[in-house]
Amino acid sequence: MQDLTTGQSEKILDSLPCYVTLLDRHLEVLWTNDVSRHDFGDPSGKTCFELYRIRGGKCPECLVEKSFQDGRVHNKEMTLTTVEGTRIDVLVYSSPVRSAEGEIVSVVETAVNITSVKEIQKQLILLGQTVAGMAHSIKNIMMGLDGGIYVVKKGLEAKNQDEVREGWEMVLLNFDKISHIVKDILYCSKEREPDLQVIDPNTVAREVYDLFKDLAASYSIELKLELDPELESAVIDPSGLHSVLSNLVSNAMDACKLDMAKDEHLVEIRSKKGKDGGAIFEVADNGIGIDKNVKGHVFEDFFTSKGDKGTGLGLMVTQKILREHGGSITFRSRPGRGTTFVATFPKKDLPRTT
Ligand SMILES: Nc1ncnc2c1ncn2[C@@H]1O[C@H](COP(=O)(O)OP(=O)(O)OP(=O)(O)O)[C@@H](O)[C@H]1O
Ligand SMILES: [Mg+2]
Repeated sequence: MQDLTTGQSEKILDSLPCYVTLLDRHLEVLWTNDVSRHDFGDPSGKTCFELYRIRGGKCPECLVEKSFQDGRVHNKEMTLTTVEGTRIDVLVYSSPVRSAEGEIVSVVETAVNITSVKEIQKQLILLGQTVAGMAHSIKNIMMGLDGGIYVVKKGLEAKNQDEVREGWEMVLLNFDKISHIVKDILYCSKEREPDLQVIDPNTVAREVYDLFKDLAASYSIELKLELDPELESAVIDPSGLHSVLSNLVSNAMDACKLDMAKDEHLVEIRSKKGKDGGAIFEVADNGIGIDKNVKGHVFEDFFTSKGDKGTGLGLMVTQKILREHGGSITFRSRPGRGTTFVATFPKKDLPRTT
């Protein structure tokens, strides 16, 4: 194999996509490679913890000292701060450099940027917690389902129609909750093409109104429907539109249920014909409103302010459906006053089939 000159070895170290640092036993930096100089600046006269701006000074378990002591390779994960103030997660290895006589004269540290890996790790942890939370909510709903089945059975045995009806209502309500959660998970887990059809959007809005009106009344919430007769047809995936409106109405009702300050609560579903001929839907409520700390997070997956009563998927699914249609969703809200969500479906033609 070809012998490398010192200059060539340095060039190789400079082009490595990781930070390489040579240190003496006083933790003073003797040399760094190009990548390190680019992100952390000139190392002259600095210790490693000064150069890499490690919070709190020298690391409690110093890898360099360990390698000087036992002559072995050590590693650990750390967070460094660049000259621009960006925090970078790295996996650091320290290995001893020996003289011809075998004496340890310095230690070389190589640090690989693992920030994106750490980010994925955080998301996986969050996902795990969410799946556990969902399993918990499904378990609670199953208990409700069980209760309904028990009441139906008792009613059948006693030939009591009222009891059968009451139990059946419980079964339907809980069945609905489970299918809602499962539908949301399916929507989130894959890319899908909307099933575009020429539909009457007002019919879907009316269906959602019919679905929620009794439930709203049971919480003393008035549900109103205000449809624009000009909006006759649009190219939209009907089940997508149904999910969008159901998610918005269900959030609006939750916001009213949580509002103890007002005696009368109102949720309105409105449709309008857009300027471009597309369809616009508004769902307005006079519930608790959205706090300014929460505003920036509502469309994030798994963000919920409802503890284990919410999964935090509703608005994420809603936004995904609108994006699939080339549309958008926005909202305006005043804490304590209420919120209005606006879903805009642009005018579309049916895709050509060949
Ligand atoms: N109309 C509204 N009024 C007040 N807050 C709202 C409203 N709509 C959404 N939010 C806030 O946005 C958060 C996210 O809503 P999203 O629908 O995504 O999840 P969720 O309702 O908590 O759970 P689920 O997955 O069951 O829908 C809610 O937890 C709530 O804090
Ligand atoms: Mg919701």
